[in-house]
Amino acid sequence: MRWMHAAGRALLVAAVVLAGYAGFGVRADEDAASGARGPMTLVTAGDLTDYLSPLLDDWNRDHPDEHVTLVELPDSADETRAQMISELRSGRDRFDVLNIDVAWTSEFAAAGWISPLERDRFPLDALLRPVVDTATFDGRLYAVPYVTNAGLLYYRKDILDRVGEKPPHTWAELVRQARTIAPKYGLAGYAGQFLPYEGLTVNVTEAVHSAGGSILRDDGARVSVDSDAARAGLRFLADGVRDGWISREALGYKEEESRQAFQDGRLLFLRNWPYVYADASAEGSKVAGRFGALPLPGPDGPGTSVLGGSNLAVSSHARHPASAADLISYLTSERVQRRVLTEGSLPPVRAALYEDPELIRAYPYLPTLRKSVLSAVPRPKSPRYDQVSLAVQAVAQDVMALRQTPEQAAARLARELETISRKG
Ligand code: GLC
Repeated sequence: MRWMHAAGRALLVAAVVLAGYAGFGVRADEDAASGARGPMTLVTAGDLTDYLSPLLDDWNRDHPDEHVTLVELPDSADETRAQMISELRSGRDRFDVLNIDVAWTSEFAAAGWISPLERDRFPLDALLRPVVDTATFDGRLYAVPYVTNAGLLYYRKDILDRVGEKPPHTWAELVRQARTIAPKYGLAGYAGQFLPYEGLTVNVTEAVHSAGGSILRDDGARVSVDSDAARAGLRFLADGVRDGWISREALGYKEEESRQAFQDGRLLFLRNWPYVYADASAEGSKVAGRFGALPLPGPDGPGTSVLGGSNLAVSSHARHPASAADLISYLTSERVQRRVLTEGSLPPVRAALYEDPELIRAYPYLPTLRKSVLSAVPRPKSPRYDQVSLAVQAVAQDVMALRQTPEQAAARLARELETISRKG
């Protein structure tokens, strides 16, 4: 009988969740008796720098009864989200600890796919403040920040040096250099992540905010995209395609394709996340030692990044919630966060690491990154953020394919966002 099966499963899930809560505060032997401890999976988007397995090997050596198995999903944010959701909705318990994009915390929490966590159990005070906010929803903590992210502008220092130019701090400088210098050296001018997926939403949001505008205000409560500043942000990207300093090929790029293009020496400028720094510096990269990274530019000065990164959450179906919480404490410990930077090339969430002189010597972009993270725009805390993002992507795609003007696109996006917010 199907209904009995479902009810039984719901009871089981409730029991596991309750056992998990008990487990967060009590002794290890009681946890073991309650079933809150045991093996688990850590599910994540593709580990682009292959650093996670060694971290988990260390955990596994010290916790043989709480063995963690790494489950890697595709590296595109949208595909990872879709696969996580399909598993979480099914009620199966294959996914225990979830490394979720900061953009999804609200959606996952509102849907009941992840369990609230006890604040006192995690080192929140030691983390960068805006990052902690991405892990809360409705006043409760639903995840623990693990990695943060802010966009940087990568530029070919060797080429700019050759023509006696400084790297750009404004859009006007970037556009001039991308138009005039890149073609002389057989390079494309500028690329970001322009395929329609979350990366495009990020790039468009950055352009709009850099121009002084916004898409939504008041944490998503008010639509604000029908403004001169927002139109200027859209126009920046459309002009790039129309005038050729953004190549048509770039309209199909996600993070990895755009990194590859830069690393193969095919681009003068690239907007991407900090992980690119290590890959582009590694042996085999054609641009190793020949590039620099700066904060994103805006029309007349520094621009604005979107706040990226990921948070660790415990699935509501987690088999062993106390072990899951301990794994999260381990991954957010100072020791492991240092390795997140040194071995994973990912921006850690612990504030003190950004002021560590030894790390700054090895990673000269850390102070820039810290500033970019602290001033970055968070994505709205909406359970319907996925719909907001899809609307932004669809409109941005039309603007960049030159099918709609920035004016038409901003007006259309405002209408669509109003409809989405009315439904909410
Ligand atoms: C990076 C960011 C994430 C963002 C994604 C977009 O993974 O950390 O927050 O949503 O890129 O592609």
